[in-house]
Amino acid sequence: MTVAHQGLSGLLDTEAIRKDFPILHREIHDGRKLVYLDNAATSQTPRQVLDVLSEYYEQHNANVHRGVHVLAEEATALYEGSRDKVAAFINAPSRDEVIFTKNASESLNLVANMLGWADEPYRVDADTEIVITEMEHHSNIVPWQLLSQRTGAKLKWFGLTDDGRLDLSDIDEVITEKTKIVSFTLVSNLLGTLNPVEKIVRRAQQVGALVLIDASQAAPHMPLDVQALQADFVAFTGHKMCGPTGIGVLWGRQELLEDLPPFLGGGEMIETVSMHSSTYAPAPYKFEAGTPPISQAIGLGAAVDYLSSIGMEKIAAHEHAITEYAVERLLQVPGLRIIGPASAEDRGAAISFTLGDIHPHDVGQVLDEQGIAVRVGHHCARPVCLRYGIPATTRASFYLYSTPAEVDALVDGLEHVRNFFG
Ligand code: ALA
Repeated sequence: MTVAHQGLSGLLDTEAIRKDFPILHREIHDGRKLVYLDNAATSQTPRQVLDVLSEYYEQHNANVHRGVHVLAEEATALYEGSRDKVAAFINAPSRDEVIFTKNASESLNLVANMLGWADEPYRVDADTEIVITEMEHHSNIVPWQLLSQRTGAKLKWFGLTDDGRLDLSDIDEVITEKTKIVSFTLVSNLLGTLNPVEKIVRRAQQVGALVLIDASQAAPHMPLDVQALQADFVAFTGHKMCGPTGIGVLWGRQELLEDLPPFLGGGEMIETVSMHSSTYAPAPYKFEAGTPPISQAIGLGAAVDYLSSIGMEKIAAHEHAITEYAVERLLQVPGLRIIGPASAEDRGAAISFTLGDIHPHDVGQVLDEQGIAVRVGHHCARPVCLRYGIPATTRASFYLYSTPAEVDALVDGLEHVRNFFG
């Protein structure tokens, strides 16, 4: 066991923070301390969010926007209050630009479908092009493949460099006058890469293309300012940022949301309905058909309060220090190859690696036996594995409650894996 981390600066008071997360005190496999390093898949939930969720169900549970009774009014105020909190958290110019969805996948699919059904100038059709990247999560690939198959639009993408970054050397050929939408991740869930937004947005704006940013791996970890990003849409999900599952967000520029057609039809998204036709409610309600994920949105509001009380700058600094330490220590493990940037610069806190020719599933299983939770597989980003000629990776991903001692536990665990497999 090393004590090399004693000089790390920028760390949060994890001893205090970890008290907020009951699950982090679990012991598994006959008394082993849980070392939870699967935060890119889902984060853990603090007591402050759990309390809001149980208070909601114990005191306020009702459907929103529909009732005149007290509980309905309370539930509506809490649900809409969360929209205000999320809008402030991402510096949205207007709360009406915040659409609640089920998850980031639904947010991304929503944009793809809006554009597929849109009139000019937004319409995606056979004369137009869609641009994504080779490092996208499947949720930012498949919706565009579906749209391309339906409309005949050409799907193009940026490739990757050997060190896990976007290859933008052909940016002017990839994003052209025909491009209608450029959709890319801010931080890769597999590689950890933080992408150069400004350069891509500038080129997209030159040709009049819309920009959608998948911020699923960014919103939990760093300050997110949708105005500074200068994108048209930003998608993220609640369960990776201390909130519940079942709640996602799509932020979109107001004038676009006013112009673009709805995707799902149903209750709550209408203004009037007759047997022949309907008119729609203004955004965001136009895009929230049916009973929304009420408690989940309220839980996300509590998560936003929790993260803001600690401070996103401080969370980012903490994760940077942990990532720097983790990269340094992992690179000392014989046979370990980091898939993605092998430094802490311009990257998030998810680190994928291979370990000699030991299959990642075996790595994950032996780590689990030691109480260490990582994710193994292609991480819903299979094209990245194909690009680097590997079937899968092991991924350790950190969050505000992660400690240097957990990095040490991971490195010791990997030593055990190596011994186990000779
Ligand atoms: N998208 C999540 C991950 O990367 C599930 O693990």
